[in-house]
Amino acid sequence: MIYRTHNCEELRIEDIGKVVILSGWIQKLRDLGSLIFIDLRDYYGIIQLTVLKNKLQNTIANIEKEFLIRVHGEVKKRKSINYNLSTGKIEILISKLEILNHSAQLPFTIENKTDGNEENRMKYRYLDIRRAPIKNNLIFRHKISLEIRNFMSKNNFLEIETPILINSTSEGARNFVVPSRILPKKFYHLPQSPQLFKQLLMIGGIDKYFQIVKCFRDEDPRSDRQIEFTQIDCEMSFIEFDDILLFFEHFIKHLFKKMKNIELNTFKKMTYYDVLQIYGTNNPDLRIITKLLQNHIKYLKKDFIIGINIPNYFHLNNSQIEYILQYIKNYNNVIDNVLWIKYLKNKTFFFPKEKWKITLHNKILIQLIKYFELQPEDILFIICGKQNHIMKILPLIQKKIYHIVNINKCNIFKPLWIIDYPLFTWDIEKQKYTSFHHPFTSPKQKDIVLLLNNNITNNLNNILSQSYDLVINGVEIGSGSIRIHNQKLQKKIFQYLGLSNTDIESEFGFFIKSFQYGTPPHGGIAFGLDRLIAVMLGEIDNMKNVIPFPKNNYGQDIMTNSPSFLTAEKIKELHL
Ligand code: AMO
Repeated sequence: MIYRTHNCEELRIEDIGKVVILSGWIQKLRDLGSLIFIDLRDYYGIIQLTVLKNKLQNTIANIEKEFLIRVHGEVKKRKSINYNLSTGKIEILISKLEILNHSAQLPFTIENKTDGNEENRMKYRYLDIRRAPIKNNLIFRHKISLEIRNFMSKNNFLEIETPILINSTSEGARNFVVPSRILPKKFYHLPQSPQLFKQLLMIGGIDKYFQIVKCFRDEDPRSDRQIEFTQIDCEMSFIEFDDILLFFEHFIKHLFKKMKNIELNTFKKMTYYDVLQIYGTNNPDLRIITKLLQNHIKYLKKDFIIGINIPNYFHLNNSQIEYILQYIKNYNNVIDNVLWIKYLKNKTFFFPKEKWKITLHNKILIQLIKYFELQPEDILFIICGKQNHIMKILPLIQKKIYHIVNINKCNIFKPLWIIDYPLFTWDIEKQKYTSFHHPFTSPKQKDIVLLLNNNITNNLNNILSQSYDLVINGVEIGSGSIRIHNQKLQKKIFQYLGLSNTDIESEFGFFIKSFQYGTPPHGGIAFGLDRLIAVMLGEIDNMKNVIPFPKNNYGQDIMTNSPSFLTAEKIKELHL
């Protein structure tokens, strides 16, 4: 039995007259009395079928949406062209129609804009995947993975798989654990990342490693965070800080060019300290720039806290501006006032003077232009009130503005390298220092001597690390560092983190030991693949749309019903 001679996308006007066999799902049925139109869909596309009712009355009476059918027919010219379909100039006049499989009533419509809620879409993910937006995201995911592998391979990186059932690693989140049946009361840990293994590969003499790899973190899921996610994990030997930034900037630019035909400008680079001082957050979005005003703009009143610059208005009209103002003013218990200034095409300013109640003299305006890098046609909102109150609701306001200007679909990408992070951070709850990134990150050269000589007793906050994060459009896409490759220093860092010698030996003994066999200097980075794709596709508010089978916001897979209870028998077998 031949299922198909062609797929539902490939027939064109040149094929008129051909007799073809097609198989696919019924996307749409339109009954015009004596004539029925069917939109037939497969993985590749959609084609219109025409059925003369009197010919196939019996079969036709029984078909519904999403039934799987096989048809024989002749390619004909279509009377009214459908410009939305690549097959829109033709149709198939059906001579035979068979039902290959029935479909139960659908829980939601299989359309680009579905009526399915998230829960149903997760529960029937296989149906959600039939929808073009999800399918196309998966195709994009396949293509970018291929592009990554090709790029890395061309640059002498070797893809190496590292184990999934391992011992604990220190990435800062909680580990998922797996009980061992053979070794009672013992547990494996799932990797939060392959950090230790990639470093061991460098010690093993593998010069450049990468892996597209699943990682697992037992943390609360968010719109851009999954408990099971994928990293593009990379490591290189004999490499220095600046070379890593340069190489991976080239890598990201390459992906944007290949996948989106977008040429990214040279990435901006800022220190962590400056980022916090200027943007008040460690993941600033440079598309719609939100900056702290105090200490940056002289002569401005102290309660002028935040400026939000919407470049180019992004096509904002007056009613949209008013909508934003009203939305911000909803928080009137937190916000005292919200003002705006337009920087006009002729490089003059326009602002409602009665609302400002102060004269904006030129000195302030000039500072604002410089600080916000204002361009003609930008609009600047200024929010007044108490800083800590405003900072709490700021993400909501930003989200609203992003939504109004539909920023995620604007294909604008603003990458930022953040460097000079602190090595340690004080954990108030635990009353001890923890690593800002992870304990394998090298301090800056000048601080290494201080740390080794025990010259720092109380304030570890001032020690800087050789680490870097890549933020694109306000999302942390990647993070990495130059690593410690000196055994004494690595031990010392563990000690500063409050680990006893016994802890160090039991958790990291094998790792510390490996350092004594000529460990090369090395460094690397890991990018979140799901996040990178979500940012590229403007799906960051719902990263689940770029993941084939994501977990819901409680970390559940409601389709397979995972996690689930264990039977008493299984619990016994696992010695739990
Ligand atoms: P880090 O923990 O910063 O570094 O992770 C690297 C990148 O992985 C992505 N990411 C996530 N994506 C989705 N859901 C999550 N829960 C999640 N957690 C992290 C982010 C992040 O920037 N071993 C180090 C890297 C290194 O030092 O080389 C590490 O894992 O995009």
